[in-house]
Amino acid sequence: MTRAEDAVRTIRDLRAQVAVWRDAGERVALVPTMGAIHAGHLSLLAEAKAKADRVVTSLFVNSLQFGPREDFQAYPRDEAEDAAALAAGGSDLLYAPESSEMYPPGFSTKVRVGDLTEDLCGAARPNHFDGVATVVAKLLLQCAPDITIFGEKDYQQLLVIKRLVRDLDIPVEIAGGAIVREDDGLALSSRNAYLSPAERKIAPVLYQTICNVAADLEQGRGADDASAAARFKLEAAGFRVDYVAVRNPDTLEALHGPVKDARVLAAVHLGKTRLIDNLPVPSQAR
Ligand code: PAJ
Repeated sequence: MTRAEDAVRTIRDLRAQVAVWRDAGERVALVPTMGAIHAGHLSLLAEAKAKADRVVTSLFVNSLQFGPREDFQAYPRDEAEDAAALAAGGSDLLYAPESSEMYPPGFSTKVRVGDLTEDLCGAARPNHFDGVATVVAKLLLQCAPDITIFGEKDYQQLLVIKRLVRDLDIPVEIAGGAIVREDDGLALSSRNAYLSPAERKIAPVLYQTICNVAADLEQGRGADDASAAARFKLEAAGFRVDYVAVRNPDTLEALHGPVKDARVLAAVHLGKTRLIDNLPVPSQAR
């Protein structure tokens, strides 16, 4: 059981514990998080437990991936509650480094995954994926797990991390975890806590709308046409639309006409909250 006071704070202590497990022939998984633990994170933990003998969960609100006007300060932080939820979910070790451990004075290296990061969330959030790639590269080198699990909720992030691992020859297997949703379809997110009660009622329209896009595409409607209709519907519901896009599921290249195999991705603002969601087409892949 990991209690908040048991969290490991240093790379040295993390490596020492992982080495003990390795020496015992155990397979180690890493589940990186920024805390505010919810059932989506816990599903990744469950998947990690099914695929490894030991699970390390990391909790680090990574300043490097937030823009200057984003919610780094406001991001929900309650380590004791998170530690209890993760321990109950079966995490063997909580790695919660201080910022000074992750980014000591003089830290000056950035990891940039090209190409995949320029569009969609990368266009709206410049430098965001550099911050993600840098911290994930560090976490993987610090922990050296056999396998690491990331949610499909952040689909572009999952592809960026797969590319990072491939390009830098980091010896780790990557698994993607399915999106966990509320009963009304809203994808669980730490940022849902920012929604007012009125916004929370509107929020599931995002999921409903991308479901409609997926259904339209399966019936042969063109990608541009289906995404334009979705944008209109989202704006009418009160969202400010960042993008609704139909993309190649592996490369994120734009698709325009009828599609066979695609990913529908959307990002919107509702009041001060940014929400993202995505779905595969065909839906059997869901
Ligand atoms: P965070 O937003 O805390 O998410 C941690 C992991 O949980 C990510 O892999 C994310 O895709 C997954 N996740 C979030 N909501 C989910 C849901 N509803 N269903 C399934 N999985 C879900 O993503 C990050 O942190 C950071 O960018 C990080 C990778 C930790 C790097 O700082």
